[in-house]
Amino acid sequence: MANKYLADHLPETLPSEPMHWAAAWLAAATSDKVQRNPNSMSLVTVGSDGKPSARIVLCKSFEADPGYLVMYTNYQSHKCREMEQNPNVCVLFHWDSMGRQIRIDGTAVQSPAAESDAYFASRDGGSQLGAWGSDQSRPIESHEALIRQIRGRAAEQGVSLAEDHGTRVAEDSAAIARPPHWGGMRIWASSIELWIEGTDRIHDRALWTRKLTRKAEGEFSVTAWTGTRLQP
Ligand SMILES: Cc1cc2nc3c(=O)[nH]c(=O)nc-3n(C[C@H](O)[C@H](O)[C@H](O)COP(=O)(O)O)c2cc1C
Repeated sequence: MANKYLADHLPETLPSEPMHWAAAWLAAATSDKVQRNPNSMSLVTVGSDGKPSARIVLCKSFEADPGYLVMYTNYQSHKCREMEQNPNVCVLFHWDSMGRQIRIDGTAVQSPAAESDAYFASRDGGSQLGAWGSDQSRPIESHEALIRQIRGRAAEQGVSLAEDHGTRVAEDSAAIARPPHWGGMRIWASSIELWIEGTDRIHDRALWTRKLTRKAEGEFSVTAWTGTRLQP
């Protein structure tokens, strides 16, 4: 049976669960290996000076219900300092070979510590050491100084390295704990636009919005989605 999510346009009566459509597109991009990092997305934050900044990050979890996605990063990075001051963010996925784009606006909050711990524990030693070794977004005088810093942090954390000069973690090294300054950010969607490329630039697009209301720390209650078809 054809995958209804991959039809060449959205149903005439717009679906009521756009995050499920987005999740299905991401799953298809991943299973079809359409590009090296099919879960990469642009994340746009806005500083207190009102200036936007964008960078690519990886979407590590897409929770269609209740409707947030998760990325991992350094909490002291430029992006996180901006998200602390202004939690309104925008993310954008684009799969050129699928002719699909997803734009999500939302509110960023830190993931629960236990969730970040579990994800960190699932990563390989090199990525774990990198989280300790790099003060993301801060200046450093040279690449060599960065390597020295990572090796120094490895020693501080009791991590054994495989080589004399490199930063590869030895296979028998002790487990590495999650740094307190590294973890997940959940981006709760308040609007989502699905875009499907059409012939002769007659693309199909629709925008859904909903209201997020903050309840407990880092949690939101949500209304149903309201969808509107937009001209391309
Ligand atoms: C394909 C790709 C995936 C990336 N994934 C992440 C990621 O998941 N988390 C992250 O913090 N940075 C990731 N980066 C690096 C960011 O683009 C960025 O350089 C870094 O987070 C620092 O951004 P900032 O100084 O604006 O905070 C990725 C870069 C690329 C090209």
